Amino acid sequence: MLQDRGSAQESGNWIACLTYKSRAAYSPSPADLEDLVHKARLRNRSLGVTGMLLYENGKFLQTLEGPPEGLSEIWAAIREDKRHTHIEILSEHIVSARLFSDWDLLLYSRAEERTRSPARRAEDGPDLSEYVPRMARLALDADDIRLGAQLAALTEEGWSGEALVARLIEPTARAMGDAWLADQCGEIDLTIGLSMLQLAAHAVRLSPCSGAIRGSRFSILLATAPGEAHMLGTSLLADQFTDAGWLVEMAFPKTESELIAQVRAFGPDAVDLSLSDALPRHHALARLRETIVQSRKAAPDSLAVISVGGRLFAEAAATAAMVGADYARPSAIGSTVRLAQLIDKHRKGR
Ligand SMILES: Cc1cc2nc3c(=O)[nH]c(=O)nc-3n(C[C@H](O)[C@H](O)[C@H](O)COP(=O)(O)O)c2cc1C
Repeated sequence: MLQDRGSAQESGNWIACLTYKSRAAYSPSPADLEDLVHKARLRNRSLGVTGMLLYENGKFLQTLEGPPEGLSEIWAAIREDKRHTHIEILSEHIVSARLFSDWDLLLYSRAEERTRSPARRAEDGPDLSEYVPRMARLALDADDIRLGAQLAALTEEGWSGEALVARLIEPTARAMGDAWLADQCGEIDLTIGLSMLQLAAHAVRLSPCSGAIRGSRFSILLATAPGEAHMLGTSLLADQFTDAGWLVEMAFPKTESELIAQVRAFGPDAVDLSLSDALPRHHALARLRETIVQSRKAAPDSLAVISVGGRLFAEAAATAAMVGADYARPSAIGSTVRLAQLIDKHRKGR
């Protein structure tokens, strides 16, 4: 087992993540699987790779994550391994946080459940298994909002980020693998669901203490401008800010007072207000300006930065100054970095 991989200090480095499925070319006994995994763990550890291997009914499913060089070395060996065939990559991407940071290679199979892996994590203390089926369902349905809300609720109850990752997020990933192995969900659902969990894991892991999600470095309320029906910009930002470890809340207020109530209740470091990405909303600028004045009044102590976005700003047909904002996003990309800089600047200038 690893001690400090996946910790906040790693969060600046990108991690390659690969998930594949294959068919076993033999019928491995629990001892065969243990032997395979024992050797794999040693090598994974030496190369900084972590992951999970599921085996059921002649099918393997494996997720590996680690520095790109280490991962390709291991992948080259796995691809050539005659113990399995029909190898098919399900997803391959770069992420900013590991899902299995504590596991050189977590083995999960029903056979192994019966014999109990010696490397399994100590399962002391109260568990969160009652939440696993619901979490798995939410992840497979790609319902990241409810997934985040569930984790936030457990964090409020005092569960630490570490406990949530170990007792809820990892078991959920396994439950999802089980669902796939039992043909209860498609591969795409599984792959997307695992990515959702990865984002969630990132959010809870960033904070070392309990209050993990709340303990993120910055918080932001991502909102559509009051009355704006197009939500694309706000949802695109949500992924990025969550992935970057921010504490994110979303709002789709119909009125200015609804928005102000949320700014007051949440007290974020930043608020982002989106107009439509599809249509220019010239007529909305005056109202947006007023909304920004009111938002600043609503949380004068905490609110450091207000950003705006949408087609008008992307095309430079409107500027931040025109609506009294601190920053106008030309696109969703890069906003996390820019807003973090602005918040830091604001805090230093106090
Ligand atoms: C389904 C499956 C998963 C494997 N996972 C890993 C793994 O995560 N890490 C690893 O080092 N080897 C893993 N192996 C074993 C490698 O394929 C290979 O046998 C081992 O790395 C030794 O490689 P080498 O013969 O090139 O030295 C796996 C094998 C199979 C069949």
